[in-house]
Amino acid sequence: MAGAAAAAAVASGISARPAAPRSALTWRRARSVVRAAVSVERGEKAYTVQKSEEIFNAAKVPSLCLLPELMPGGVNSPVRAFKSVGGQPIVFDSVKGSRMWDVDGNEYIDYVGSWGPAIIGHSDDKVNAALIETLKKGTSFGAPCYLENVLAEMVISAVPSVEMVRFVNSGTEACMGALRLVRAFTGREKIIKFEGCYHGHADSFLVKAGSGVATLGLPDSPGVPKGATCETLTAPYNDVEAVKKLFEDNKGEIAAVFLEPVVGNAGFIPPQPGFLNALRDLTKQDGALLVFDEVMTGFRLAYGGAQEYFGITPDVTTMGKVIGGGLPVGAYGGRRDIMEMVAPAGPMYQAGTLSGNPLAMTAGIHTLKRLMEPGTYEYLDKITGDLVRGILDAGAKTGHEMCGGHIRGMFGFFFTGGPVHNFGDAKKSDTEKFGRFYRGMLEEGVYLAPSQFEAGFTSLAHTSQDIEKTVQAAEKVLKRI
Ligand SMILES: Cc1ncc(COP(=O)(O)O)c(C=O)c1O
Repeated sequence: MAGAAAAAAVASGISARPAAPRSALTWRRARSVVRAAVSVERGEKAYTVQKSEEIFNAAKVPSLCLLPELMPGGVNSPVRAFKSVGGQPIVFDSVKGSRMWDVDGNEYIDYVGSWGPAIIGHSDDKVNAALIETLKKGTSFGAPCYLENVLAEMVISAVPSVEMVRFVNSGTEACMGALRLVRAFTGREKIIKFEGCYHGHADSFLVKAGSGVATLGLPDSPGVPKGATCETLTAPYNDVEAVKKLFEDNKGEIAAVFLEPVVGNAGFIPPQPGFLNALRDLTKQDGALLVFDEVMTGFRLAYGGAQEYFGITPDVTTMGKVIGGGLPVGAYGGRRDIMEMVAPAGPMYQAGTLSGNPLAMTAGIHTLKRLMEPGTYEYLDKITGDLVRGILDAGAKTGHEMCGGHIRGMFGFFFTGGPVHNFGDAKKSDTEKFGRFYRGMLEEGVYLAPSQFEAGFTSLAHTSQDIEKTVQAAEKVLKRI
């Protein structure tokens, strides 16, 4: 068990150290990690999160104790810290299908899906079996491997804009690569992005970014030099006139427009009819490129992503999440003449030690194979539609102003009457109420994204019983908040 291994590692690390510089509290903290990690019980009992608290506290010791935190804020990615919903984060032990189990033995129906990758359900048996076979041959070659060709062919044949692809290790890396690429290809430096859209944490994109930046209410991050963001222009999502004005004011200077074709990082916000078409036309007219960041929407809204769903083909596409099937993968791809700029075919440098490693390629290949089966997206559409309608109906019955929507396996709802067309509208939500709803749902065994400004995800493993149970839980919680 991973927890036991972690505990053993902690225990052996402690006994190897000389006792003198360690305080009694360090020992207590370490013992609590070991106790919590080795004893995971499951079964029917009242909802408690004591072990979650012990482990999270061990990661994040209060400053009074004069001991360093193990990790900043106790986490390795900010939204996980539950800052915007209150309470302590849940520490997980295992996942399977539509379910997750925490270290206290509580079971949850999961609508985060590891932030998107788990579209066929967690820990799929076929993906696991394929991973074990690949593992026997090694985890990383740092050299070409056949599996890269297989996944590249699958991506190229699925995604309309992609004629050539480069695999990287995360969505952030994919967007960084795409940014350099559009600048290299056009010889221009300015880009347009939209308020509330998140394209990973590279410097140039940390301007009015969504996701954790929005969740924590952070201003643009310190540490980002002005020089990195002075060429980043922003507009409200769904506002064609604002984009037109930026093109007029910066004629011939804009390398590309970057966007989430359906926003997931400011909550779920779909494009208004005509918005994507207008961006396609404006970029073409000015000789700029259109980049769809499909890290979230790729293989989720349709097998060919949002571009297939909406019938708009960008010049460059970034991907991640689903194409790694739960392992760390990102990719960028696009028109052949653009992609031929990338080294070693062309002069634009970008590289990666673990890029295209056989394990990640295997998880991606077998996840996509499952998605290719007939009826998958219709299924996602049905269960997700039932879920969102159920929650909104429960909101209406219990007297809460709510709005929301879904496309295939991606959804969201806001505690505001709406409509929500951009991040400004999303911010009108009652986030305090969302926090109360969130904590109530946890107690009912439903795990949602811990922020009003994040989309939710369903999977092929979610059943109509899961949805029914979730809607009943929502009604119960909405009645009392
Ligand atoms: C649209 C979008 N782009 C980029 C990223 C960054 O991906 P990663 O977290 O894999 O670096 C994310 C992450 O959530 C995302 O949603």
